Amino acid sequence: MKIAISGKGGVGKTLISAGLAYHFVKNGLTTIAIDADPSPNLALTLGLSPKRSRQIVPVSENKELVESKTSTEISGVYRLTFTVDDIVRDFSVQTPYGVNLIVMGTVQSMGAGCTCAANAVIRALLRHLVVERDEVVLVDMEAGVEHLGRGTARQVDTMLIVTDSSIKSLEIALHINNLARDAGIRQVFLMGNKVADEDQRNAIKSFAEDNNLQLLDFVPFDEQVVKAEMHGETPLKYKDSLALKSIDELGSKLAQLG
Ligand SMILES: Nc1ncnc2c1ncn2[C@@H]1O[C@H](COP(=O)(O)OP(=O)(O)O)[C@@H](O)[C@H]1O
Ligand SMILES: [Mg+2]
Repeated sequence: MKIAISGKGGVGKTLISAGLAYHFVKNGLTTIAIDADPSPNLALTLGLSPKRSRQIVPVSENKELVESKTSTEISGVYRLTFTVDDIVRDFSVQTPYGVNLIVMGTVQSMGAGCTCAANAVIRALLRHLVVERDEVVLVDMEAGVEHLGRGTARQVDTMLIVTDSSIKSLEIALHINNLARDAGIRQVFLMGNKVADEDQRNAIKSFAEDNNLQLLDFVPFDEQVVKAEMHGETPLKYKDSLALKSIDELGSKLAQLG
């Protein structure tokens, strides 16, 4: 399974990425979470300390490694022959709850046809890591829609678009939905997050119905998540968090859909 998590900034992509990743780890799958946000913070949500998180060298800044893995004698031609094990060993960081984390870092945009090495590595990671049935790759994407043109999204089989009940988030979700469908992604789902009451739930539901978006599930607003963030803790440690419980259910649904 390879799943990208997208949506407007602040809707809960990182929380849902981390919660889903932990769900799959608990179910015995090798789980790789890729932080593709240029301002990465998935490491903290996965339970690494701020100090340890700062020490992670993003793939895009690890030029030597990227080049050794990708370059050929011919300029502009990349060799992408490494194995899954190589990728995990060379690029990922172990996090306390068992998720393998890869931080992509900032990739300078060179337009839609960007073939820069770091981006090529990420696309290759996505292609290579999903071949096994007992592996899951989750991509915590950057906010908005521009990145969808860079080819990363095309390498996933499921796009989960996170939204809250605000019309701004919903409009961005609709835009992403259309781009993801145009890119030929097999499954594209809308996911309501931070839902505090029936009104919010209904707002998301009717927007989805009116615009032909496939609504998969809701995650409730959860004070425990807010508290965890306030104390600089990972929400993953709260076993009875309502939000994480429903992210667990979401994970089971996704596993069933395949
Ligand atoms: N279900 C929820 N209940 C309460 N707070 C949430 C929930 N989901 C996300 N948050 C909080 O909202 C903020 C933004 O979430 P985050 O996952 O960082 O969003 P994104 O990655 O989309 O920018 C964080 O402080 C996070 O803890
Ligand atoms: Mg985020």
